[in-house]
Amino acid sequence: MDDDLTVLELTVNGNRRTATVDRRELLVEALRTRFGITGPKIGCLTGDCGACTVRLDGLITKSCLHIAVAEDRAEIETLESMSVGGLTGLQESFWDNNAFQCGYCLSGMLFSAAELLERDPKPNEDEIRQAISGNLCRCTGYDAIVTAIKRYADRGSATVEDVAQ
Ligand code: FES
Ligand code: FES
Repeated sequence: MDDDLTVLELTVNGNRRTATVDRRELLVEALRTRFGITGPKIGCLTGDCGACTVRLDGLITKSCLHIAVAEDRAEIETLESMSVGGLTGLQESFWDNNAFQCGYCLSGMLFSAAELLERDPKPNEDEIRQAISGNLCRCTGYDAIVTAIKRYADRGSATVEDVAQ
């Protein structure tokens, strides 16, 4: 095997997977090109936009900030994990409130919202804006996203399972 290549083992959305990766590859690149997981998007690659957001060992993080091989044997959840049994209530609220257009920001927005709602099921608007502040949306102007999260929370059904599945 080429010295630059190595085998990476990850548990991705509950499935243990292995792939041969370049030692210099970023986690978002490995997920997309080696594991075929396209929910996390490639945006800035500098940690600023949130398009590549995943949960890594339970914590949300920007996967462009991790070298893939440094996360060998980690557990990764991506956007795909949220809709295994159909859309979550939070996703439905995004749909109902036109809270996305191209969808590029959805990994960051949904994971950030889910993490907030797990901590605080009844956040106010300022808290919602703070929670999603690490994510750039080029399409919606943010108001619809905040409305979607607020309306979902106000319905009082924000359980961990319903939010993040
Ligand atoms: S691509 Fe990772 S934060 Fe922008
Ligand atoms: S919906 Fe296009 S970047 Fe947010």
